[in-house]
Amino acid sequence: MLEKIKESAQYLEQRISAKPEVAIVLGSGLGGLVKDIKIEHEISYKDIPNFPVSTVAGHKGTLIFGKLNGTQVMVMNGRFHYYEGHPMKTLTFPIFVMNQMGIKKLLLSNAAGGMNPTFDVADIMIINDHINMMGNNPLMGPNIDELGPRFPDMSEAYSKRWIKLAKKIGAELNIKLQQGVYMGVTGPCYETPAEYRMFHTMGADAVGMSTVPEAIVARFLGMEVFALSVITDLGVVGQVEKASHEDVLHAAEKAEPNMVKLVSALVPQL
Ligand code: HPA
Repeated sequence: MLEKIKESAQYLEQRISAKPEVAIVLGSGLGGLVKDIKIEHEISYKDIPNFPVSTVAGHKGTLIFGKLNGTQVMVMNGRFHYYEGHPMKTLTFPIFVMNQMGIKKLLLSNAAGGMNPTFDVADIMIINDHINMMGNNPLMGPNIDELGPRFPDMSEAYSKRWIKLAKKIGAELNIKLQQGVYMGVTGPCYETPAEYRMFHTMGADAVGMSTVPEAIVARFLGMEVFALSVITDLGVVGQVEKASHEDVLHAAEKAEPNMVKLVSALVPQL
């Protein structure tokens, strides 16, 4: 696996002109960030040796290299999900490659169902912790001791420094920000009312189908992580409504201008 990581990193390094400082994974609600990036290179996942490709027809799948508000970034435009059937090591492979390229800062974004009754649709939530409810872990199997410890610390999975900074910038830009615990599940079903209730009782404020494997791998590698959820539907006890992919995308679109503003302002200050 280490050889494969090195091969992919080398392939990319030979094709880019500047070393990226921050990596960004675009989830629903942050796709519009691409417009703000001065793109220098765009490389299809299918052209990168050992890189996974999306199983979903028509899904985006490119790595974008360029400048965001003056900072050199590497952006995953399209991510891999566990529900697509990828093994955890495959779907987190790009995170290993980022680290191999010397990137030590990772910003993740996603769409999530809100379970905290103070949340509204289209709110933005800073993830301050997570619960791994996926029944699997990307670090299972032989440990690559060259890359990180067998038993990684997770006491500060999401950087307190970045959270503080994001809250300050949110206040300056007049963007409402929620904060809470993200529960990572496999999907692809949305939750039953009983599941939403259980997850909220367990201490989660939002639930979604990504981010947790990527954050685990990044922490294993010693990268600093920051993550945002767009609350796209509500799983609030007593008022669970039908959730559909269309509604999720629509709510994500509504939050997108503020997500883009926040991330554009935050990245150069990291
Ligand atoms: N549950 C799980 N994943 C999600 C949801 C949800 O309600 N909304 C968006 N992604």
